[in-house]
Amino acid sequence: MTEDILHLRAPGNWINDPNGFIYYKGEYHLFYQHFPYAPRWGTMHWGHAVSRDLVHWKHLGVALFPTKDYDQDGVFSGSALELDGRMHLYYSAVRYTQPKPEDIHIAEGDRFETSQAMVVSPDGRHFDNWTDKRQIIPVITDPEQGDRKDTRDPKVWKEGSSYRMVLGSTCGGTMGRVLFYRSEDGLTWTYANQYAAPELGRILECPDLAKLEEGYLFFGSPMGITADGLAYSDQAMYARAEFESESCRMTLTEPLSFLDYGLDLYAPQSTLDEAGRRVVVGWMRMPQPAPDFGDGRGPWNGTMSLPRVVEVREGRVCFPVHPNVSACFTKLVSDLSSLADHRPVRLQTTLREGDSLNLGGYRIRMRDGQVEGDRSDVFAGLSQVRLTARSPRLPEGSCRLDIFVDQNLIEIFINEGQYVLSHVVYDLGSQLEGRFNAIHTL
Ligand code: FRU
Repeated sequence: MTEDILHLRAPGNWINDPNGFIYYKGEYHLFYQHFPYAPRWGTMHWGHAVSRDLVHWKHLGVALFPTKDYDQDGVFSGSALELDGRMHLYYSAVRYTQPKPEDIHIAEGDRFETSQAMVVSPDGRHFDNWTDKRQIIPVITDPEQGDRKDTRDPKVWKEGSSYRMVLGSTCGGTMGRVLFYRSEDGLTWTYANQYAAPELGRILECPDLAKLEEGYLFFGSPMGITADGLAYSDQAMYARAEFESESCRMTLTEPLSFLDYGLDLYAPQSTLDEAGRRVVVGWMRMPQPAPDFGDGRGPWNGTMSLPRVVEVREGRVCFPVHPNVSACFTKLVSDLSSLADHRPVRLQTTLREGDSLNLGGYRIRMRDGQVEGDRSDVFAGLSQVRLTARSPRLPEGSCRLDIFVDQNLIEIFINEGQYVLSHVVYDLGSQLEGRFNAIHTL
């Protein structure tokens, strides 16, 4: 089976959102939205990969796939929970009310309905798609409560001795909202509360409510954001939140911010790592499949970001790279003139106003106090997605950069994760220009 280092990539064909991210019985499990038949989106399955360290990933094939009337057209995104030693997987079950006659993997006119379902696995290795599935929240028929089509992506967590679920939804396709459910046993769920706001976009996807020492942090991916200069109009965002666990009343206590200023990252999901840190990964959207690696996977589209730790420093939410990732870049490179061919590289430097770097044709500059990433020369001539991206202004006028360069992805951590800017790339060269404090390979 395919293996990946650093970035979990599609094992072939198509992947999107991370699902069911959990540290379970000594291993990290990362499932993902997967279309196994072509490098494009279609009837969703859950692909499955495991890792001991969040760095080396082993693909285990398809875990969940449609078998029931209620999920016949897709096992959409969801999450995992360990309960009584067993792995509980929660997902959105999709049934097209009108499939497209010429392509049954797509709903005609977006006509489908969604319920919430689950599978219990005894060990995180075996998933009985025929006998261990159950529908837990039927299609919502009351528009006051939710949307029969666009209510999805259950994120489940333990709260004291009971369980909570947050779902993404919409008020009639015009304003995003999230719905909260409660359960005593993880199996039977009752509606508890909801929160709607214009800043949740038109539809809110993939919500996550993470409990940090400092309070709750809300993650969500609003669709239809209209701010200027976005690469895609659906974006991954976060904000601090207040949450009353009994009533499930949530309020956001600050405006939403982008999780990643490259704006390719979407649908992040968090979990707790082995040491109890909150760690988050996101799907990096790719406008076209990457070239065949020659490793048997064929054309592939979609990769996960590096794992990032969620930290609050001096009252600010930061996303530094996970320490297991930094720790594996052990080889110091002494010849600073080129990037090692197709091998992941970590570069550290300080960037000042007016400075610029060239990483195989990918440019990083600091202008007007903002870090700019520019992929114009390494993006396969594509122009439907924005080529440049900028961080917010850094008042100090200089910053530290920790840059991870992989074949199809560059991730720039600014001031240890104060901001992160990541860009999908297609054709990196090997030239290297700029001043660097250190360069490491694996
Ligand atoms: C986000 C999303 C989810 C949905 C899944 C379907 O990218 O649209 O809301 O569950 O992808 O693949």
